[in-house]
Formats: sequence, C-alpha cells, structure tokens
Amino acid sequence: MGFSTLVLAAGAGTRMKSEKPKVAHEILAKPLIRWVVDTAKEAGSDEMYVVLGHGRETTVPLVPDCTIIYQDELLGTGHAVMMAQATLKKAGVKTLVVLSGDTPLLRSSTINTLVAEHQRSTAAVSLLTMKVEHSQGYGRIIRDANGAFISIVEDKDASALERAVDEVNTGVYCFDTDNLFKVLKKLNTHNKQGEYYLTDVPRLTLKAGGRVTATLAEDPHELAGINNRLQLAQAAREAQRRINTQHMLNGVSIVDPSTVWIGPDVELSHDVEILPLTNLSGKTTIAWGSVIGPMSRINNSSIGKSCVVDESVLINAVLKDKVSVGPRAYLRPGTVMYEGSRAGTHVEIKQSEVGPNSKIPHLSYIGDAVLGAEVNIGAGSITCNYDGDSKHRTIIGSRSFIGSDTMFVAPVEIGEDALTGAGSVITKDIPAGALGITRSKQVNHKNWKSETEEYHD
Ligand code: UD1
Ligand code: CA
Repeated sequence: MGFSTLVLAAGAGTRMKSEKPKVAHEILAKPLIRWVVDTAKEAGSDEMYVVLGHGRETTVPLVPDCTIIYQDELLGTGHAVMMAQATLKKAGVKTLVVLSGDTPLLRSSTINTLVAEHQRSTAAVSLLTMKVEHSQGYGRIIRDANGAFISIVEDKDASALERAVDEVNTGVYCFDTDNLFKVLKKLNTHNKQGEYYLTDVPRLTLKAGGRVTATLAEDPHELAGINNRLQLAQAAREAQRRINTQHMLNGVSIVDPSTVWIGPDVELSHDVEILPLTNLSGKTTIAWGSVIGPMSRINNSSIGKSCVVDESVLINAVLKDKVSVGPRAYLRPGTVMYEGSRAGTHVEIKQSEVGPNSKIPHLSYIGDAVLGAEVNIGAGSITCNYDGDSKHRTIIGSRSFIGSDTMFVAPVEIGEDALTGAGSVITKDIPAGALGITRSKQVNHKNWKSETEEYHD
C-alpha cells in the first residue's frame, strides 16, 4: 500500500541564530530540506508535501518537486499539519508519513520499516522513538508499567521525573488520515509554548479508542534533529562518516577520511583515490582509476577514467579520460577537456573546449575558446575575451603552437598548424600553417652598462 509524505519545515529555527531559515542550512552542500525530501522519495513516497512559512523566498526554490503548503502563523507542529489538511483530503491521501525538515540523516529504509509496521499493526498512529544520552529538547515518551505507550510530553512541559526519561520522540510518524483529521480538531494550545502540538495526536488517538504503536529506532544518529549550529556540525560529521564508509567499502581509497567531504549525490567508481583535504559536491561523477587531491574542490563535474586532479578547483566542468589538472588550476563552468589534455599550474579556464592531447601547462586564462587537438599553449598566454561590453570567442586550430605570453584579442581565429611568436598580441586571424608575430625588432644598445656608469660618476 502506498503512502504520501508531509515534511514540516515552516519554522524559523531561532536556535540557529541565522538570517537563513533552518532547513536551508546545508550539510555536504545540500540543504537540510533536500536531504529529507530525497530520502522520502527514495522510500517510495507517492506525493511530497512540504509546509513552508518562515523565509519562504529562500525555501520555496529548494523544493520544486513538492506541493507547497504555506503556514503563515507559526502556531506549532500540529498547526502545520492542520494547514495541510485540505490539500491532503483533496488528494485522497490515506496513509501519511510526517517528517521534520530538520532530521536530514533519516534513512529511507527506516521510513519503509515504519510504514510496514503501521500497516501490519493496523494502528491509527505509528511513531518512531529513540534512546538518547542527552534528551534535552526532545519530547519524552511516557509508557505504562507494561511498556505500553501513553503519551509524548514536550521538554518544556515535562516534570523532573518525565525529564529523566531517555526514550524520546524522533518526529517521524505514520498516520491514518481519517483518524488524524478527526483528532487534529481536538488539539489546543494549553501548554508552556502556547502551540498546537502534533505530539498530542497519539495521546488523543488512544483516548478516542484508536491504536498507537511507538517503535524504538535502531540507530539514534539517524534521527538527530538539528536545532543549532553545533548539532549541524555533528550531523555533518555523521553524514561524512556514513558516506565515506560506503565509498571505501565500494572500492574507493580515501587516505584520510576525516578530511575528505563527499556529497550524498556524488558517484565514484572503484579504484578512485581521494587524497586528503578534498571536497566533492553536487552531482559529481568520477570514473575508474582517477586520483583526486590533495586539496581539491569539485562541484557538479564529470571526471573520466585515469584523470589526475591535483590541488585544483572544478565547477561544472567535464574531463574525459586521462586528463591532468593542476596543481592549482581553476576550471570554471562550461570547461570541457578532451582525452589526454592538460591544464597545469595557475591555469584558469571557463566556457571552453580543450581538444584531445592539447596542453595548457602554465599561467594561462582561457575563456570562451575552442582549442583543437594537440594544441600547445605557451606559458602566460591569455584569451582577451571581454572588450568591456561583451564576450568574444577565440578558436585555435589543431596542432597550433602558441608562443609564451600570447594575447588573443577575441574574436580571433587561428588556423591549424599555426604558430605565434612569444609576446605577440594577436588581433587578426592567422591562416593555417602561418606564424603570427606582432613584436617589434629587438634593439641592443652597445656598451650600455659602462656608459651609464660613467654618467652616474
Ligand atoms: C519536535 C517535537 C518533539 C521531538 C522533536 C524531534 C513537537 C511539538 N515536538 O520538537 O517531540 O522530540 O521535534 O526532533 O512537535 N514546524 C513548522 N511549523 C511550526 C513549528 C514547527 O513547520 O509552527 C517545523 C519546523 O520547521 C521543524 C519541525 O516542524 O522542521 C519541528 O519543529 P521544531 O521547532 O524543531 O520542534 P522541536 O522543538 O525540535
Ligand atoms: Ca527540531
């Protein structure tokens, strides 16, 4: 039987002390809300609903694949679900999983287990609990002498005795919506925070004769809620540990896992080697045998087989096989480097194609350019692509040999097998096979040193 998911994410997250809404804060370059939404989708959720409120201009663009429900006044988690009620009813949702936007490490398998348990036990409400060392801030799970669930008591409303309970509410629930919508009407704000608590729904369900199951989750790390920056950093550490472990077991070498940060959507082949202080994020893929790092940062890039990226930054770049980059290269969006090509030290490339086996070994800026195959770019050469108004293209034909410190004043086209003299400022096209040179002749002043010394005397 299917289920849909509602993610509560309207809160400001005051404990973050941030201008940015809490769920827009990131772990491994992915906003918290995205972790939760992607996990629910992975678990097979039919429809995704998200309650947004605070900072919606920031949060709305993060969830283009979800139906958005607005909560204008933040009157609590129960109120957030009330706001969604009409939409959920209209869509005919029968089984509803409710998640918090601030528990990013939740696993899809945990959602599946909860939904299966909910259906097996024919409960009206199924909730997931966990045992924690530091229960402060969490709702406590109150059970009777036989261990049967009685209620959830929020931290701020708990007595000293209740506060000592180490089993807490994870904020992950599965509801039968017929019951949920009935019970929501009974919520009130008679509590320390003056809010409509979603956590009162289980107790009120029992009171109305419904079944409630409260199941203890196996791994509390997975359900840690993020309320402040310390918890954000701790969750990032846990995500890092989880992701790096998986890659290593899949055959990726990570020399120093504690300094390597790999995003959840990064794909690595076996026999990839990641050296220390390296950060891979977004939809990055790295194929067999490539060595990345140390000290490299790669975002949304595709890297072929047997490449080397040493101490470099790549953003939205594509490397085919056997490409060598760095140390200290900066490949910006739209860079495509074909097989066997090289971008060396202090080389910046953007929106350019570098053909097979072409080399840009030292100190260059290549922008809006197309280089053919086996081009050699001398040290310090630059495409002057911007005239102060618009960007222009430079085209360099295959096997051209570019002298050091050549300036290409774009638009300009260099034919195949052409050459430029070192230090030339190329403003006109060079035909295939020709040498373009714009230097004035060298003049040697004889006895310059001895004559100027006499003058100073
Ligand atoms: C909540 C639970 C607590 C549980 C804990 C688990 C309640 C009353 N308490 O406490 O039992 O142990 O989560 O992490 O539910 N939100 C809205 N609208 C609101 C208020 C909150 O959408 O009006 C959203 C928040 O953005 C957040 C989620 O609901 O993503 C939880 O809210 P938060 O304030 O973090 O609740 P906790 O105090 O952590
Ligand atoms: Ca929380």
